Amino acid sequence: MPKTFIVGNWKMNQNLEEIQRFFKTLDPAIQGPEVQKWIAPQFVHIPLAFDLASSFQIMVGAQNCASSESGAYTGEVSAASLKELDVHFVILGHSERRSLYKEVDGEILAKAKTALKNDLAVIICVGETLEERDSGKTMEVVLSQLKNSLGDISLDPEKVLIAYEPVWAIGTGKTASPEEANEVHMEIRKFLVQKDAVQGEKTAILYGGSVKPSNIKDLLGKSDINGALVGGASLKADDYSQLCTLAI
Ligand code: PGA
Repeated sequence: MPKTFIVGNWKMNQNLEEIQRFFKTLDPAIQGPEVQKWIAPQFVHIPLAFDLASSFQIMVGAQNCASSESGAYTGEVSAASLKELDVHFVILGHSERRSLYKEVDGEILAKAKTALKNDLAVIICVGETLEERDSGKTMEVVLSQLKNSLGDISLDPEKVLIAYEPVWAIGTGKTASPEEANEVHMEIRKFLVQKDAVQGEKTAILYGGSVKPSNIKDLLGKSDINGALVGGASLKADDYSQLCTLAI
């Protein structure tokens, strides 16, 4: 069985004061090892978050990294420099990166390879738009993104996680029903198991899209939903604490 993860994606939110307050008001009861607790702040907040998160056993990650190792790439952040800050993981291929910054599967694959080479774990995100869902293309789109973003990367449950995030459910308050989400998760599982029968069963597949304390239990109750990638609700210490507690 894969481990259970509650991953907070803070996106371009939280200032220094808000981060201090977040950790000050986090419920100390979430410290246990039952749930893997990960949070990705903005790059510049990583050192602060790292210091404040350690007593809660929260791993700190990044929301992106460069595909190149180093060099003349103005504005990029290398996987090696993230590793130097003890960053644990990086979120890649988030739908906002795909739609706003035109990231394509090949680039996501290149970033994932560089991140893994630098000993970072990766969360590779996939998901369909509403238009794609309405035209019956969900599985086709998701599996194609998965195949091309994962490429020939070997599965390793400690290092490679998948997040299914239907684009129409992100930040909209509309969650896929647990059944709808699990249908896609089961197809993703099938793909992973075909790739590697042993590791495919152990790989965590997270659901993302308007996850909150009121729906986490039902989502996690499904056979192939092993955790959540959470945006909005992860910004509030109370909600994040509840998500971690409810996930046990
Ligand atoms: P949301 O975002 O929880 O605010 O819908 C999820 C995500 O974008 O990862």
